Amino acid sequence: MPNSSKASPEQYAWWQTGIIYQVYPRSFQDSNGDGIGDLPGILKRLDYLDSLNTEAVWLSPISPSPMHDFGYDVSDYCDVHPIFGTLADFDRLLAALHERGKKLILDLVPNHTSDEHSWFVESRSSRDNPKRDWYIWRDPAPDGGPPNNWLSFFGGPAWSYDEQTGQYYLHQFVKQQPELNYRNPEVLAALLDAMRFWLDRGVDGFRVDVIWLMMKDALFRDEPLNPAWDGINPHARLEHIYTANLPEVHELIRAMRGVLDDYDGRMMVGEIYLPNAELMKYYGAQLDECHLPFNFQLINAPWDAQAVRRMVDQYEADLPPGGWPNWVLGNHDQHRLATRVGPQQARVANMLLLTLRGTPTCYYGDEIGMADVPIPPEFIQDPPAVNQPEIAHIVGRDPERTPMQWDSTANAGFAPAGVQPWLPLAADYQERNVAAQSMDATSMLSFFRSLTGLRQSSKALTVGDYAPVDTGAGDVFAYTRTHGDERYLVVLNFGVHVHLLDLSQISAVADIALTTNMQTTGQVDLARLEVAPNEGLLLRLP
Ligand code: GLC
Ligand code: CA
Repeated sequence: MPNSSKASPEQYAWWQTGIIYQVYPRSFQDSNGDGIGDLPGILKRLDYLDSLNTEAVWLSPISPSPMHDFGYDVSDYCDVHPIFGTLADFDRLLAALHERGKKLILDLVPNHTSDEHSWFVESRSSRDNPKRDWYIWRDPAPDGGPPNNWLSFFGGPAWSYDEQTGQYYLHQFVKQQPELNYRNPEVLAALLDAMRFWLDRGVDGFRVDVIWLMMKDALFRDEPLNPAWDGINPHARLEHIYTANLPEVHELIRAMRGVLDDYDGRMMVGEIYLPNAELMKYYGAQLDECHLPFNFQLINAPWDAQAVRRMVDQYEADLPPGGWPNWVLGNHDQHRLATRVGPQQARVANMLLLTLRGTPTCYYGDEIGMADVPIPPEFIQDPPAVNQPEIAHIVGRDPERTPMQWDSTANAGFAPAGVQPWLPLAADYQERNVAAQSMDATSMLSFFRSLTGLRQSSKALTVGDYAPVDTGAGDVFAYTRTHGDERYLVVLNFGVHVHLLDLSQISAVADIALTTNMQTTGQVDLARLEVAPNEGLLLRLP
């Protein structure tokens, strides 16, 4: 969509108006009783996805992998891991989604491969192998140690020594995830081919893993100490100025975008944890890079109405002309929303996510309010937690990756009875599950469905303008969304006190479209608008 900046309201792309729903395939639905979710399992749940009014499914990696980082260590870019099924299963899933008018986004992991990928097997076989330079190999420091001070996100140095060839290779994650050398044009060409493999099959887009890390300093300089280090996560001890966000990365991203633009209606959303000023560069100077650079600010935001308002306003102000906004509340790397903000505010947070201007990305299970599941030490599997037991409760990601809670039967309907799911189920699954919440008109799930239904049927809520509203109450964040004559007012109480607001400057009255408690209906007097503790109101303005 090179002309997206000039698009008229009727020409918005699916990735602008639709909701993205992230499925973590291992944890969604097991179809064959091995305790691990799979593609045929997802296929069985398409009615459920329809009921959520989501547009696109993003699947975390499904390619062959030794699973040292649960699929983010890819050993073949152009196939499906037998745990998840076959290419034929994949084609069936894609066709079924398309039949329902839905889209599929694949996770693309270009920064590193598995050490079992044939490219790396060749690369490490000898110093003069043609693929040696496909990865990042360096001589030891004079004392025999690693070439520089770079660190792995998952604990320890970012370098591992290879006995056979006497050099170190770079890996910013586990040592089984060697990093590709994108200064070698053959590597980029191979990546673009892998993209074409899936695009030719009909995939609608890619979520690109750690896209901002794909280039490293050509001089391999030591990184400086981070003066703001909080002393907790060792990886944050350094300022990552030579391993992340290098200017050269943008050229790579433009090449990737070029491939997408050879096809109709495809998109890429990049995983990028950076402040606005840097993040916005990933749209590309000519809007020729990521369609959406992920905006993760809500995840780490202090849960405070004024702080969130400032953040939203700043983000809106910082967007480049024509750059489309997006918002995220959770993913497979972050503690669950309901755990971070509490079960009451989880509804307010979803109302925020789904009424802000821009594409929302939802994480599976958040729609029923799933919380982090405490993982007994013997079940901990995620490498940062395994490698760093003392901070496992902070860096471990197993708690937010537990099986989807479908119903109250054994294994929550995720896997057959008697099977051991790959991660433990939440203790409350018999009460908190899709089946129970579907029967309850006031449940989190019913709230979520009503909210997404309203959103998807409204131009104002999908593509309308955003304008903040002063409420006079520090705990309350309010804003309008407007498209032509259609206008909504969103009022979100982040606090635990009742507020009586005078919002008559907007309009005298409004109709309640939806509230977080799912009970109140009718008309309200905006001169005396009462907002209950932890309440969110979606109001339709005359
Ligand atoms: C991304 C993924 C994360 C993975 C890492 C390495 O941050 O989201 O799950 O561990 O990249 O691929
Ligand atoms: Ca399975």
